[in-house]
Amino acid sequence: MEIGDWRATQGLNGLYRDIRKLDLEPAVAELDAFGFTVVPDALPIELVDRCRDAILRTGVERFGTRLELESESTHVGWKGLFYLLAADRAFEEVVLNERVLALVTYMLGPGCLLSSIVSHVKGPGGDEIHLHADNTVPAPFASYAHVANVNYALTDYTRAAGALAMVPGSHRLARQPNAAESRLDGDAGNPDAIPIEIPAGSAVVWHGNTWHGSYVRQIPGLRINLATFFVRPHMALQEDYRRHVPDIVARYGAGSRLARLMGADNLAGWLEDGPDMKKLAAAGAGRAA
Ligand SMILES: [Fe+2]
Repeated sequence: MEIGDWRATQGLNGLYRDIRKLDLEPAVAELDAFGFTVVPDALPIELVDRCRDAILRTGVERFGTRLELESESTHVGWKGLFYLLAADRAFEEVVLNERVLALVTYMLGPGCLLSSIVSHVKGPGGDEIHLHADNTVPAPFASYAHVANVNYALTDYTRAAGALAMVPGSHRLARQPNAAESRLDGDAGNPDAIPIEIPAGSAVVWHGNTWHGSYVRQIPGLRINLATFFVRPHMALQEDYRRHVPDIVARYGAGSRLARLMGADNLAGWLEDGPDMKKLAAAGAGRAA
């Protein structure tokens, strides 16, 4: 059917038209049914290369170790590289990925915020990441998403390579897994978990209630990802870009999508001068009693 400018769904009409224009209706259906979807070829290979190079460069600087993509490495298990937005401009392009951002916006609304950009750099061995939901509110979770995550594969994912794991349909359980349900590897691993085996450049997008984790890498070399985590605007941010990377806001403009994702419009955290009253009125909240 044709999506009109219907009053009852004012905030949704344009979003849905974008979803349809970008050929994402099947992805929306998968998100609803299974709690996650895969966007193939989300990133062009040259952008995958730039992201991976930036992560390796930043990892060598921060970890103080040698990182070998395809051969034996001294990097054992996984280690997080945090707060990456300002580390390379390639990451700005990833955050603004049109198709992925349309899905995130559909789940969280147009006021959603970028909470963090993290790479989990994974060598052979070490510990799995146990199954968990990214939603941090107390159970029972709401059926709609408070948070949403996007995991870009920057190297090919297979189970032996240390792929992301998902439990299809777990977003409907509305709670965290218990200790026994959260295990992945070994005989006691959750039998409902599946490896997401995808080529580099794909993105896995999921509802914040969906149980996920990642397998131990069993082969030499590194598995590299980029996790971009988004939240609804009332939630606390993991990485506070708004205050610490003003040059990005200046470069894109205060009203740009990237600046808004970074919280340039977010009112929370005022000092004695109080909030910007115009923005407060626009947000339709906080009226004096
Ligand atoms: Fe997670």
